[in-house]
Amino acid sequence: MKIGVLKETAAGERRVAATPETVKKLAALGAQVSIEAGAGAASWFADEDYAAAGAAITDRAALLAQSDVLLGVQGPDPAGLDGIKPGAVITAILNPFGERARVDAYAALEIEALALEFMPRITRCQSMDVLSSQSNLSGYSAVIEAASQYGRAFPMMMTAAGTITAARVFVMGVGVAGLQAIATARRLGAQVSATDVRSATAEQIMSLGAKPIFVSAVAGIEGEGTGGYATEMSDEYKAAQAQLVASHIVKQDVVITTALIPGRPAPRLVTDAQIATMRPGSVIVDLAVEQGGNVEGVVAGEIVERHGVRIVGHTNVPSRLAADASALYARNLLNLLSAFWDKDAGRAQFPDEDEITKAIRLTRSGKVVSERLLGQPNHAH
Ligand code: NAI
Repeated sequence: MKIGVLKETAAGERRVAATPETVKKLAALGAQVSIEAGAGAASWFADEDYAAAGAAITDRAALLAQSDVLLGVQGPDPAGLDGIKPGAVITAILNPFGERARVDAYAALEIEALALEFMPRITRCQSMDVLSSQSNLSGYSAVIEAASQYGRAFPMMMTAAGTITAARVFVMGVGVAGLQAIATARRLGAQVSATDVRSATAEQIMSLGAKPIFVSAVAGIEGEGTGGYATEMSDEYKAAQAQLVASHIVKQDVVITTALIPGRPAPRLVTDAQIATMRPGSVIVDLAVEQGGNVEGVVAGEIVERHGVRIVGHTNVPSRLAADASALYARNLLNLLSAFWDKDAGRAQFPDEDEITKAIRLTRSGKVVSERLLGQPNHAH
């Protein structure tokens, strides 16, 4: 089986889908790996290191013509896939809801597109879960960014010149990114509180030494929610949440928002009026900006100031930590290919009936086949 690693073409994307370490392991499985020249450069992996690990370095045309499986980070623009082998598999973060036209184009090219963000949230898939591996780094990065934008210190400091009080950090949305944001802010010495709609997160928040701030008047999502995910909340819940946030946010110095609902716009959690109550010099980092944002007034790719509060809307946050993000992402892909590796055939096979295949496969034999994308009933979430 020939595996090809694409050089990313999206603006600002620094990550790469394989590292010298994973190339070596893919080769050990029996794959022939080729890397598009310069694919790892932006995350500090050199062509020579890939070559030393057993990969061939090639140009894009050769890569497309020969590869049975193509590994990417973001879904490649179909316009740049001329000459791709029909039947080839592409695995990447394909943004299927946001880039629906691309999915149709992949089908027209007769390739099999596997959307890694559709990986089921089950124990078997934890090591292949790219949303987790990347969100974890985003949560870390959000706090570091907030600390650098904040004109004050995070930890309490008692000095001869007087005492500095600890920063108060509020994390909204306690999934993978939120948990890492709490842990990072705690490590920096902040006083941390956090909220979510899923009741199971209250204990996780406390175990990290932070204070849970939960709506009590209206029931949230019991436990984890289907597939670990949240859903759109009722108007009654939203009203209670808005009230709770308004009374809490006025006392906060830093707010990190991470709330997402799969396949839907991000829930709006912080209004302009609430921002106006915060102390000038406060910072908000909105990690949901690419899904429309949790914060009113956030601008994708920019840092804007409202009422003296900086609102950070960085996009593609994992790419800011490209070397680590690539290393973890590449291992997610290695774990996926290893799990489906058929030793006798010397290739990865994705059986139609497997629950992972069913979840992540978007296109096959010229058709869109993803139930989730086609909106058919009885899919996982
Ligand atoms: P996510 O990125 O979809 O959402 C982030 C957080 O925002 C979630 O905790 C969600 O409940 C919260 N949220 C949504 N709407 C909200 C609102 N209106 N107000 C406040 N918070 C809101 O979630 P993520 O990070 O992907 O993880 C969700 C859960 O999935 C994890 O905590 C974990 O339990 C589970 N998980 C399981 C995996 C596995 O078993 N393979 C892998 C990764 C996660």
